[in-house]
Amino acid sequence: MNTETLTISDNRTGKKYEIPIWQGTIRAMDLRQIKTSDEDFGLMTYDPGFTNTASCKSHITMLDGERGVLWYRGYPIEQLAEQSTFLETAYLILHGELPTKSQLDAWIRSITHHTLLHENTKKFIDGFHYDAHPMGILVSTVAGLSTFYPDAKDIHNSESRQVQTYRLIAKMPTIAAFAYRHSLGMPYAYPDNDLTYTGNFLNMLFKATELKYTPNPVLERALDVLFILHADHEQNCSANTMRSVGSSYADPFCATAAAAAALYGPLHGGANEAVLRMLNQIGSKDNVPQFIARVKAGEGRLMGFGHRVYKNYDPRARIIKQIADQVFEVTGRNPLLNIALELERIALEDDYFVSRRLYPNVDFYSGIIYQAMGFPVPIFPVLFAIPRTAGWIAQWEEMLLDKDQKIARPRQVYRGETRRNYVPLAARG
Ligand code: CMC
Repeated sequence: MNTETLTISDNRTGKKYEIPIWQGTIRAMDLRQIKTSDEDFGLMTYDPGFTNTASCKSHITMLDGERGVLWYRGYPIEQLAEQSTFLETAYLILHGELPTKSQLDAWIRSITHHTLLHENTKKFIDGFHYDAHPMGILVSTVAGLSTFYPDAKDIHNSESRQVQTYRLIAKMPTIAAFAYRHSLGMPYAYPDNDLTYTGNFLNMLFKATELKYTPNPVLERALDVLFILHADHEQNCSANTMRSVGSSYADPFCATAAAAAALYGPLHGGANEAVLRMLNQIGSKDNVPQFIARVKAGEGRLMGFGHRVYKNYDPRARIIKQIADQVFEVTGRNPLLNIALELERIALEDDYFVSRRLYPNVDFYSGIIYQAMGFPVPIFPVLFAIPRTAGWIAQWEEMLLDKDQKIARPRQVYRGETRRNYVPLAARG
Protein backbone atom coordinates (compact mmCIF):
# COMPACT_ATOMS: atom_id res chain seq x y z
CA MET A 1 0.00 0.00 0.00
CA ASN A 2 1.25 3.47 -0.85
CA THR A 3 1.84 5.43 2.35
CA GLU A 4 3.97 8.31 1.07
CA THR A 5 2.11 11.59 0.94
CA LEU A 6 2.72 15.28 0.46
CA THR A 7 0.99 17.85 2.62
CA ILE A 8 0.22 21.11 0.88
CA SER A 9 -0.78 24.18 2.80
CA ASP A 10 -2.59 26.80 0.71
CA ASN A 11 -1.61 30.16 2.18
CA ARG A 12 -4.48 31.82 0.32
CA THR A 13 -7.12 29.90 2.28
CA GLY A 14 -5.24 28.31 5.16
CA LYS A 15 -6.50 24.89 4.02
CA LYS A 16 -4.29 21.80 4.04
CA TYR A 17 -4.33 18.94 1.51
CA GLU A 18 -2.74 15.53 1.68
CA ILE A 19 -1.68 14.24 -1.73
CA PRO A 20 -0.40 10.71 -2.46
CA ILE A 21 3.14 10.34 -3.81
CA TRP A 22 3.67 7.54 -6.35
CA GLN A 23 7.12 6.70 -7.72
CA GLY A 24 8.43 10.17 -6.91
CA THR A 25 5.51 11.92 -8.58
CA ILE A 26 2.23 13.50 -7.62
CA ARG A 27 -0.74 13.46 -9.99
CA ALA A 28 -1.34 16.87 -11.48
CA MET A 29 -5.11 16.21 -11.24
CA ASP A 30 -4.77 15.90 -7.44
CA LEU A 31 -3.96 19.62 -7.41
CA ARG A 32 -7.29 20.52 -9.00
CA GLN A 33 -9.08 20.21 -5.62
CA ILE A 34 -6.98 23.15 -4.35
CA LYS A 35 -9.32 26.12 -4.84
CA THR A 36 -9.93 29.51 -3.33
CA SER A 37 -13.71 29.28 -3.93
CA ASP A 38 -16.27 26.95 -5.53
CA GLU A 39 -16.00 28.95 -8.76
CA ASP A 40 -12.21 28.67 -8.87
CA PHE A 41 -11.04 26.20 -11.57
CA GLY A 42 -8.42 24.72 -9.21
CA LEU A 43 -4.64 24.63 -9.22
CA MET A 44 -2.71 23.48 -12.30
CA THR A 45 1.03 23.10 -12.91
CA TYR A 46 2.85 25.34 -15.40
CA ASP A 47 5.64 23.46 -17.17
CA PRO A 48 6.63 24.72 -20.65
CA GLY A 49 8.77 22.11 -22.41
CA PHE A 50 7.71 19.45 -19.85
CA THR A 51 10.92 20.01 -17.89
CA ASN A 52 9.51 18.37 -14.75
CA THR A 53 6.47 16.45 -15.91
CA ALA A 54 6.26 12.68 -16.40
CA SER A 55 3.75 12.18 -19.23
CA CYS A 56 3.63 8.40 -18.99
CA LYS A 57 4.81 5.25 -17.28
CA SER A 58 7.24 3.40 -19.50
CA HIS A 59 9.06 0.06 -19.50
CA ILE A 60 11.20 0.68 -22.59
CA THR A 61 14.24 2.87 -21.99
CA MET A 62 15.90 4.01 -18.76
CA LEU A 63 18.05 7.09 -18.85
CA ASP A 64 19.88 8.33 -15.75
CA GLY A 65 21.09 11.76 -16.73
CA GLU A 66 23.07 12.37 -13.55
CA ARG A 67 25.19 9.25 -13.96
CA GLY A 68 25.18 9.13 -17.78
CA VAL A 69 23.48 5.73 -17.93
CA LEU A 70 21.26 4.35 -20.72
CA TRP A 71 19.45 0.99 -20.81
CA TYR A 72 17.05 -0.49 -23.33
CA ARG A 73 14.67 -2.86 -21.49
CA GLY A 74 17.28 -3.12 -18.72
CA TYR A 75 20.26 -3.91 -20.95
CA PRO A 76 23.11 -1.35 -20.78
CA ILE A 77 23.72 0.42 -24.08
CA GLU A 78 27.42 -0.49 -23.92
CA GLN A 79 26.62 -4.24 -23.93
CA LEU A 80 24.12 -3.91 -26.77
CA ALA A 81 26.56 -1.83 -28.84
CA GLU A 82 29.24 -4.45 -28.38
CA GLN A 83 27.24 -7.67 -28.69
CA SER A 84 23.91 -7.03 -30.41
CA THR A 85 22.78 -6.02 -33.88
CA PHE A 86 20.39 -3.25 -34.77
CA LEU A 87 17.55 -5.60 -35.76
CA GLU A 88 17.96 -7.66 -32.59
CA THR A 89 17.95 -4.46 -30.52
CA ALA A 90 14.85 -3.24 -32.37
CA TYR A 91 13.15 -6.55 -31.48
CA LEU A 92 14.18 -6.09 -27.85
CA ILE A 93 12.87 -2.54 -27.72
CA LEU A 94 9.55 -3.52 -29.30
CA HIS A 95 8.95 -6.86 -27.55
CA GLY A 96 10.61 -6.29 -24.19
CA GLU A 97 12.88 -9.37 -24.32
CA LEU A 98 15.84 -10.50 -26.41
CA PRO A 99 14.63 -12.91 -29.12
CA THR A 100 15.39 -16.63 -29.26
CA LYS A 101 17.20 -17.79 -32.40
CA SER A 102 13.96 -18.73 -34.17
CA GLN A 103 12.23 -15.49 -33.10
CA LEU A 104 15.18 -13.49 -34.40
CA ASP A 105 15.23 -15.37 -37.72
CA ALA A 106 11.49 -14.83 -38.20
CA TRP A 107 11.82 -11.15 -37.29
CA ILE A 108 14.69 -10.56 -39.74
CA ARG A 109 12.77 -12.45 -42.44
CA SER A 110 9.67 -10.32 -41.92
CA ILE A 111 11.61 -7.04 -42.03
CA THR A 112 13.62 -8.15 -45.06
CA HIS A 113 10.47 -9.04 -46.99
CA HIS A 114 8.89 -5.62 -46.53
CA THR A 115 11.75 -3.47 -47.84
CA LEU A 116 10.25 -2.79 -51.27
CA LEU A 117 8.23 0.37 -51.84
CA HIS A 118 5.06 0.49 -53.91
CA GLU A 119 6.17 1.69 -57.38
CA ASN A 120 3.86 4.69 -57.11
CA THR A 121 6.01 5.93 -54.24
CA LYS A 122 8.80 6.56 -56.74
CA LYS A 123 6.58 8.93 -58.71
CA PHE A 124 5.94 10.72 -55.48
CA ILE A 125 9.67 11.09 -54.74
CA ASP A 126 10.35 12.06 -58.36
CA GLY A 127 8.15 15.11 -57.85
CA PHE A 128 10.58 16.70 -55.40
CA HIS A 129 13.08 19.26 -56.59
CA TYR A 130 16.66 17.92 -57.03
CA ASP A 131 17.89 19.86 -53.99
CA ALA A 132 14.97 18.98 -51.71
CA HIS A 133 16.18 18.23 -48.18
CA PRO A 134 16.02 14.44 -47.66
CA MET A 135 14.26 14.91 -44.32
CA GLY A 136 11.43 16.76 -46.08
CA ILE A 137 11.18 13.90 -48.57
CA LEU A 138 11.27 11.30 -45.80
CA VAL A 139 8.59 13.02 -43.71
CA SER A 140 6.25 13.43 -46.69
CA THR A 141 6.81 9.95 -48.09
CA VAL A 142 6.24 8.23 -44.75
CA ALA A 143 2.99 10.17 -44.39
CA GLY A 144 2.19 9.17 -47.98
CA LEU A 145 2.55 5.48 -47.05
CA SER A 146 -0.57 5.89 -44.93
CA THR A 147 -2.55 6.18 -48.18
CA PHE A 148 -1.10 2.90 -49.48
CA TYR A 149 -1.96 0.99 -46.31
CA PRO A 150 -5.46 1.95 -45.15
CA ASP A 151 -5.43 -1.19 -42.96
CA ALA A 152 -3.02 0.74 -40.71
CA LYS A 153 -6.03 2.56 -39.27
CA ASP A 154 -6.88 -0.60 -37.37
CA ILE A 155 -4.64 0.49 -34.51
CA HIS A 156 -6.40 -1.56 -31.81
CA ASN A 157 -5.65 -4.79 -33.64
CA SER A 158 -2.30 -6.22 -32.54
CA GLU A 159 -1.80 -8.16 -35.80
CA SER A 160 -2.28 -4.99 -37.82
CA ARG A 161 0.16 -3.13 -35.56
CA GLN A 162 2.67 -5.92 -36.15
CA VAL A 163 2.42 -5.63 -39.95
CA GLN A 164 2.76 -1.84 -39.84
CA THR A 165 5.83 -2.31 -37.62
CA TYR A 166 7.47 -4.54 -40.24
CA ARG A 167 6.57 -2.09 -42.98
CA LEU A 168 7.85 0.99 -41.18
CA ILE A 169 11.16 -0.49 -40.01
CA ALA A 170 11.73 -2.12 -43.41
CA LYS A 171 10.80 0.78 -45.65
CA MET A 172 12.50 3.69 -43.87
CA PRO A 173 15.96 2.85 -45.30
CA THR A 174 14.47 2.41 -48.78
CA ILE A 175 12.77 5.80 -48.67
CA ALA A 176 15.97 7.40 -47.33
CA ALA A 177 18.11 5.82 -50.04
CA PHE A 178 15.66 6.77 -52.80
CA ALA A 179 15.62 10.37 -51.52
CA TYR A 180 19.42 10.44 -51.68
CA ARG A 181 19.60 8.92 -55.18
CA HIS A 182 16.94 11.35 -56.36
CA SER A 183 19.10 14.29 -55.23
CA LEU A 184 21.97 12.94 -57.37
CA GLY A 185 19.79 12.07 -60.35
CA MET A 186 20.86 8.44 -59.99
CA PRO A 187 18.55 5.50 -60.70
CA TYR A 188 17.02 4.00 -57.58
CA ALA A 189 18.83 0.88 -56.32
CA TYR A 190 16.41 -1.80 -55.15
CA PRO A 191 16.81 -3.72 -51.89
CA ASP A 192 19.08 -6.76 -51.85
CA ASN A 193 17.63 -9.39 -49.53
CA ASP A 194 20.97 -11.23 -49.23
CA LEU A 195 22.40 -8.34 -47.23
CA THR A 196 21.92 -7.27 -43.61
CA TYR A 197 19.71 -4.33 -42.70
CA THR A 198 22.60 -1.85 -42.76
CA GLY A 199 24.45 -3.66 -45.57
CA ASN A 200 21.35 -3.38 -47.73
CA PHE A 201 20.97 0.30 -46.84
CA LEU A 202 24.54 0.95 -47.99
CA ASN A 203 23.73 -1.01 -51.15
CA MET A 204 20.65 1.10 -51.92
CA LEU A 205 22.67 4.29 -51.33
CA PHE A 206 25.95 3.55 -53.02
CA LYS A 207 25.48 0.75 -55.59
CA ALA A 208 26.60 1.97 -59.02
CA THR A 209 26.97 -0.28 -62.07
CA GLU A 210 28.25 -3.40 -60.32
CA LEU A 211 25.86 -6.36 -60.42
CA LYS A 212 26.24 -7.07 -56.73
CA TYR A 213 27.21 -4.52 -54.07
CA THR A 214 29.48 -5.73 -51.28
CA PRO A 215 29.49 -3.45 -48.24
CA ASN A 216 32.74 -2.92 -46.35
CA PRO A 217 32.22 -5.06 -43.20
CA VAL A 218 33.82 -2.48 -40.86
CA LEU A 219 31.60 0.33 -42.14
CA GLU A 220 28.53 -1.94 -42.16
CA ARG A 221 29.12 -2.88 -38.51
CA ALA A 222 29.89 0.75 -37.54
CA LEU A 223 26.58 1.86 -39.05
CA ASP A 224 24.78 -0.98 -37.29
CA VAL A 225 26.23 0.14 -33.94
CA LEU A 226 25.28 3.75 -34.67
CA PHE A 227 21.75 2.51 -35.37
CA ILE A 228 21.71 0.66 -32.02
CA LEU A 229 22.74 3.86 -30.24
CA HIS A 230 19.95 5.83 -31.89
CA ALA A 231 17.15 3.26 -31.53
CA ASP A 232 15.31 4.86 -28.59
CA HIS A 233 15.79 7.56 -26.01
CA GLU A 234 12.61 7.61 -23.91
CA GLN A 235 10.45 10.77 -23.85
CA ASN A 236 12.39 13.07 -26.19
CA CYS A 237 10.73 15.59 -28.50
CA SER A 238 10.01 13.13 -31.33
CA ALA A 239 8.88 10.25 -29.07
CA ASN A 240 6.56 12.69 -27.35
CA THR A 241 5.26 13.75 -30.77
CA MET A 242 4.69 10.11 -31.76
CA ARG A 243 2.72 9.52 -28.59
CA SER A 244 0.86 12.81 -28.87
CA VAL A 245 -0.22 12.33 -32.51
CA GLY A 246 -0.91 8.64 -31.86
CA SER A 247 -3.11 9.56 -28.90
CA SER A 248 -5.71 10.92 -31.33
CA TYR A 249 -5.67 7.43 -32.92
CA ALA A 250 -4.01 8.64 -36.15
CA ASP A 251 -2.46 5.74 -38.06
CA PRO A 252 1.20 4.88 -37.34
CA PHE A 253 2.47 6.18 -40.71
CA CYS A 254 1.11 9.67 -40.04
CA ALA A 255 2.31 9.54 -36.43
CA THR A 256 5.79 8.45 -37.56
CA ALA A 257 5.88 11.25 -40.14
CA ALA A 258 5.07 13.72 -37.34
CA ALA A 259 7.76 12.21 -35.12
CA ALA A 260 10.31 12.46 -37.96
CA ALA A 261 9.30 16.10 -38.45
CA ALA A 262 10.00 16.74 -34.76
CA LEU A 263 13.37 15.03 -35.13
CA TYR A 264 14.29 17.24 -38.08
CA GLY A 265 14.90 20.36 -35.95
CA PRO A 266 18.50 21.34 -35.08
CA LEU A 267 17.85 21.13 -31.33
CA HIS A 268 17.00 17.43 -31.74
CA GLY A 269 18.07 15.02 -34.52
CA GLY A 270 19.02 17.81 -36.90
CA ALA A 271 21.89 18.61 -34.52
CA ASN A 272 24.23 16.13 -36.27
CA GLU A 273 23.87 18.11 -39.50
CA ALA A 274 24.23 21.40 -37.60
CA VAL A 275 27.46 20.16 -35.94
CA LEU A 276 29.04 19.47 -39.32
CA ARG A 277 28.08 22.90 -40.61
CA MET A 278 29.46 24.45 -37.41
CA LEU A 279 32.79 22.58 -37.70
CA ASN A 280 33.11 23.66 -41.33
CA GLN A 281 32.34 27.23 -40.35
CA ILE A 282 35.02 27.19 -37.60
CA GLY A 283 37.43 25.94 -40.25
CA SER A 284 40.54 25.30 -38.15
CA LYS A 285 41.64 24.45 -34.63
CA ASP A 286 43.04 27.97 -34.18
CA ASN A 287 39.58 29.50 -34.53
CA VAL A 288 38.09 27.41 -31.72
CA PRO A 289 38.71 29.86 -28.80
CA GLN A 290 37.12 32.66 -30.81
CA PHE A 291 34.09 30.48 -31.58
CA ILE A 292 33.71 29.46 -27.92
CA ALA A 293 33.83 33.14 -26.92
CA ARG A 294 30.97 33.87 -29.34
CA VAL A 295 28.87 31.03 -27.90
CA LYS A 296 29.50 32.35 -24.38
CA ALA A 297 28.44 35.80 -25.51
CA GLY A 298 25.10 34.31 -26.56
CA GLU A 299 25.79 34.39 -30.31
CA GLY A 300 24.64 30.86 -31.07
CA ARG A 301 25.03 27.47 -29.44
CA LEU A 302 27.75 24.89 -29.42
CA MET A 303 25.85 22.28 -31.43
CA GLY A 304 26.20 18.70 -30.26
CA PHE A 305 26.60 19.88 -26.68
CA GLY A 306 24.09 19.85 -23.84
CA HIS A 307 21.06 17.73 -23.16
CA ARG A 308 17.81 18.11 -21.29
CA VAL A 309 18.39 14.97 -19.26
CA TYR A 310 22.11 14.17 -19.39
CA LYS A 311 24.06 16.31 -16.97
CA ASN A 312 27.06 14.07 -17.53
CA TYR A 313 28.85 12.67 -20.59
CA ASP A 314 26.27 11.12 -22.96
CA PRO A 315 27.17 7.38 -22.92
CA ARG A 316 26.35 7.18 -26.63
CA ALA A 317 28.95 9.88 -27.41
CA ARG A 318 31.57 7.81 -25.59
CA ILE A 319 30.81 4.74 -27.74
CA ILE A 320 30.71 6.82 -30.92
CA LYS A 321 34.20 8.14 -30.21
CA GLN A 322 35.45 4.52 -30.14
CA ILE A 323 33.68 3.66 -33.42
CA ALA A 324 35.31 6.70 -35.02
CA ASP A 325 38.75 5.12 -34.68
CA GLN A 326 37.60 1.92 -36.45
CA VAL A 327 35.93 3.88 -39.25
CA PHE A 328 38.90 6.20 -39.79
CA GLU A 329 41.18 3.17 -40.18
CA VAL A 330 39.19 2.34 -43.31
CA THR A 331 38.28 5.79 -44.60
CA GLY A 332 41.19 7.92 -43.39
CA ARG A 333 40.81 10.48 -40.60
CA ASN A 334 38.23 13.20 -41.07
CA PRO A 335 40.16 16.50 -40.66
CA LEU A 336 37.16 17.98 -38.82
CA LEU A 337 37.91 15.60 -35.92
CA ASN A 338 40.80 17.84 -34.77
CA ILE A 339 38.45 20.81 -34.51
CA ALA A 340 35.86 18.72 -32.64
CA LEU A 341 38.43 17.39 -30.16
CA GLU A 342 39.71 20.91 -29.51
CA LEU A 343 36.16 22.20 -29.01
CA GLU A 344 35.48 19.42 -26.53
CA ARG A 345 38.77 19.99 -24.69
CA ILE A 346 38.19 23.71 -24.24
CA ALA A 347 34.47 23.40 -23.46
CA LEU A 348 35.03 20.75 -20.78
CA GLU A 349 37.47 23.09 -19.00
CA ASP A 350 35.45 26.28 -19.40
CA ASP A 351 33.32 27.45 -16.48
CA TYR A 352 30.42 28.43 -18.80
CA PHE A 353 29.98 24.80 -19.93
CA VAL A 354 31.07 23.19 -16.65
CA SER A 355 28.65 25.23 -14.52
CA ARG A 356 25.76 24.45 -16.87
CA ARG A 357 26.82 20.81 -17.04
CA LEU A 358 27.02 20.80 -20.84
CA TYR A 359 28.74 17.73 -22.27
CA PRO A 360 29.04 16.31 -25.80
CA ASN A 361 25.87 14.49 -26.81
CA VAL A 362 25.23 11.75 -29.39
CA ASP A 363 25.27 14.23 -32.26
CA PHE A 364 28.70 15.71 -31.57
CA TYR A 365 30.80 12.97 -33.19
CA SER A 366 28.26 11.02 -35.28
CA GLY A 367 28.34 13.48 -38.19
CA ILE A 368 32.13 13.29 -38.45
CA ILE A 369 31.84 9.52 -38.85
CA TYR A 370 28.96 9.75 -41.32
CA GLN A 371 30.92 12.19 -43.44
CA ALA A 372 33.99 9.95 -43.45
CA MET A 373 31.76 7.07 -44.57
CA GLY A 374 30.68 9.10 -47.58
CA PHE A 375 27.22 10.25 -46.47
CA PRO A 376 26.27 13.75 -47.61
CA VAL A 377 25.56 16.18 -44.75
CA PRO A 378 21.80 16.71 -45.36
CA ILE A 379 21.16 13.00 -44.98
CA PHE A 380 22.51 12.91 -41.40
CA PRO A 381 19.14 13.50 -39.68
CA VAL A 382 17.69 10.75 -41.88
CA LEU A 383 20.35 8.40 -40.50
CA PHE A 384 18.92 9.22 -37.06
CA ALA A 385 15.29 8.73 -38.14
CA ILE A 386 15.79 5.22 -39.58
CA PRO A 387 16.78 3.46 -36.33
CA ARG A 388 14.62 5.73 -34.14
CA THR A 389 11.57 4.36 -35.94
CA ALA A 390 11.86 1.23 -33.77
CA GLY A 391 11.71 3.38 -30.64
CA TRP A 392 8.83 5.49 -31.94
CA ILE A 393 6.71 2.42 -32.67
CA ALA A 394 7.48 0.94 -29.24
CA GLN A 395 6.51 4.23 -27.57
CA TRP A 396 3.33 4.45 -29.67
CA GLU A 397 2.24 0.90 -28.89
CA GLU A 398 2.98 1.32 -25.18
CA MET A 399 0.83 4.47 -25.21
CA LEU A 400 -2.05 2.68 -26.97
CA LEU A 401 -2.01 -0.21 -24.48
CA ASP A 402 -1.74 2.01 -21.38
CA LYS A 403 -5.17 2.42 -19.79
CA ASP A 404 -4.04 5.65 -18.09
CA GLN A 405 -3.43 7.37 -21.42
CA LYS A 406 -5.86 9.77 -23.05
CA ILE A 407 -5.71 12.10 -26.02
CA ALA A 408 -2.76 14.47 -25.36
CA ARG A 409 -4.31 17.79 -24.62
CA PRO A 410 -2.47 20.18 -22.30
CA ARG A 411 -4.01 23.14 -20.50
CA GLN A 412 -2.90 26.76 -20.91
CA VAL A 413 -2.75 29.89 -18.81
CA TYR A 414 -4.75 32.36 -20.87
CA ARG A 415 -3.09 35.81 -20.81
CA GLY A 416 -4.88 37.43 -23.77
CA GLU A 417 -7.50 40.14 -24.00
CA THR A 418 -10.64 39.92 -21.91
CA ARG A 419 -14.00 39.84 -23.74
CA ARG A 420 -14.46 42.72 -26.17
CA ASN A 421 -16.90 43.57 -28.96
CA TYR A 422 -16.12 43.21 -32.64
CA VAL A 423 -15.13 46.52 -34.32
CA PRO A 424 -16.38 46.93 -37.93
CA LEU A 425 -13.57 47.62 -40.44
CA ALA A 426 -14.75 51.17 -41.16
CA ALA A 427 -14.60 52.03 -37.47
CA ARG A 428 -11.00 50.86 -36.94
CA GLY A 429 -8.32 53.55 -36.66
N1 CMC B 1 25.65 25.75 -26.27
C1 CMC B 1 25.71 26.83 -25.47
N2 CMC B 1 24.91 27.00 -24.40
C2 CMC B 1 24.01 26.04 -24.16
C3 CMC B 1 23.90 24.89 -24.97
C4 CMC B 1 24.78 24.77 -26.06
N3 CMC B 1 24.73 23.71 -26.85
N4 CMC B 1 22.92 24.10 -24.50
C5 CMC B 1 22.41 24.73 -23.43
N5 CMC B 1 23.08 25.90 -23.20
C6 CMC B 1 22.88 26.85 -22.12
C7 CMC B 1 21.63 27.67 -22.33
O1 CMC B 1 21.90 28.86 -23.01
C8 CMC B 1 21.19 27.91 -20.91
O2 CMC B 1 22.02 28.91 -20.35
P1 CMC B 1 21.39 30.00 -19.34
O3 CMC B 1 20.98 29.21 -18.14
O4 CMC B 1 22.50 30.97 -19.10
O5 CMC B 1 20.22 30.60 -20.05
C9 CMC B 1 21.53 26.61 -20.19
O6 CMC B 1 22.63 26.08 -20.94
C10 CMC B 1 20.39 25.60 -20.17
O7 CMC B 1 19.93 25.41 -21.51
P2 CMC B 1 18.45 25.11 -21.92
O8 CMC B 1 18.23 25.57 -23.31
O9 CMC B 1 17.52 25.64 -20.86
O10 CMC B 1 18.44 23.53 -21.84
P3 CMC B 1 17.37 22.57 -22.48
O11 CMC B 1 17.34 21.37 -21.63
O12 CMC B 1 16.08 23.27 -22.72
O13 CMC B 1 18.00 22.25 -23.93
C11 CMC B 1 19.19 21.21 -25.68
C12 CMC B 1 18.62 21.05 -24.25
C13 CMC B 1 19.72 19.86 -26.14
C14 CMC B 1 18.06 21.64 -26.62
C15 CMC B 1 20.32 22.25 -25.65
O14 CMC B 1 21.37 21.82 -24.81
C16 CMC B 1 20.86 22.57 -27.04
O15 CMC B 1 20.30 23.43 -27.73
N6 CMC B 1 21.97 21.89 -27.49
C17 CMC B 1 22.47 22.08 -28.84
C18 CMC B 1 21.65 21.27 -29.83
C19 CMC B 1 21.95 19.80 -29.73
O16 CMC B 1 23.09 19.38 -29.69
N7 CMC B 1 20.88 18.99 -29.71
C20 CMC B 1 20.99 17.52 -29.67
C21 CMC B 1 20.49 16.97 -28.38
S1 CMC B 1 20.94 15.25 -28.10
C22 CMC B 1 20.17 14.33 -29.34
C23 CMC B 1 18.74 14.59 -29.55
O17 CMC B 1 17.96 14.86 -28.64
O18 CMC B 1 18.32 14.51 -30.71
